[in-house]
Amino acid sequence: MSKCYRTIKLKKKQHIAWITLDRPDKLNAINAVMLQELSEALDTIEDANARCVIITGKGEKAFSAGADLTELQKLTPETASEFSMKGQQVFTKLETFSKPVVAAINGYALGGGLELALACDFRIAADSAELGCPEIKLGLIPAWGGTQRLPRTVGLSNAKQLIMLGDRVQADEALMMGLVDKVVPQKELEDETRALAQRLCERQPAALKHAKRATNSGTKASFDSGLKKERDFFALLFAAKDTIKKIEAFGSQRNKKEGDC
Ligand code: COA
Repeated sequence: MSKCYRTIKLKKKQHIAWITLDRPDKLNAINAVMLQELSEALDTIEDANARCVIITGKGEKAFSAGADLTELQKLTPETASEFSMKGQQVFTKLETFSKPVVAAINGYALGGGLELALACDFRIAADSAELGCPEIKLGLIPAWGGTQRLPRTVGLSNAKQLIMLGDRVQADEALMMGLVDKVVPQKELEDETRALAQRLCERQPAALKHAKRATNSGTKASFDSGLKKERDFFALLFAAKDTIKKIEAFGSQRNKKEGDC
């Protein structure tokens, strides 16, 4: 975990890997180097003894203000597709990552910054955060998975409002539409996020991995094939001795309580 990156910081504390987007002067805008480094960091974390990942932005102003506009300016119809594909691949890698990922949204999460947060499993926002998809105001659309993940997260109506109007929403409104899971005072963001990550670290890693895969697959595949995946993963987990022991322990505790009455 000691590798040096140019645009992010990666550190591990206990079982939690922290990725910090580290371009505060540019509101942590995501450029090609950052995308590449995020991908490399995930590879490093995959091999490390970490059970949960937290992604946040440096400073108090922004989680990320989105794709780096200086790079965006140079795109042509030919290169734009590749640009979109690269971001989609990295965020899909994040979404399908074997360990849970929590976004600690410490300020603006706009455009690609919001798309990054949407690829995480959980989103905790500081009360000062503002979220949105401003692409339409530039004559563009979200291109790093936002048009697909947003409606799956907040429903079609809310997603269309965000994507087609391009307005920013405050943290409390984001909470109401299910765009974030929790809003906390800015100064408590780190502690709250760490507390959630610690709870996830206490869960059995294999069960978490399959829970994540099964729930994610349900949002993509047809309903029936999602149900099939749910059955398959559920059955697979019964191969672990630990699972049976936990179920038995729960049953014997209940029997004991009933006997006590
Ligand atoms: N890409 C590259 N640089 C960005 C950026 C982005 N997406 N967003 C902000 N920055 C840079 C600014 O150019 C500025 O750099 P400079 O000081 O070298 O000129 C710095 O970050 C601070 O931004 P600034 O606009 O001065 O801050 P602000 O507080 O006035 O406004 C925002 C904050 C987020 C409202 C505004 O920066 C903004 O609208 N950014 C673009 C968001 C966007 O459209 N993202 C989607 C891209 S598809």
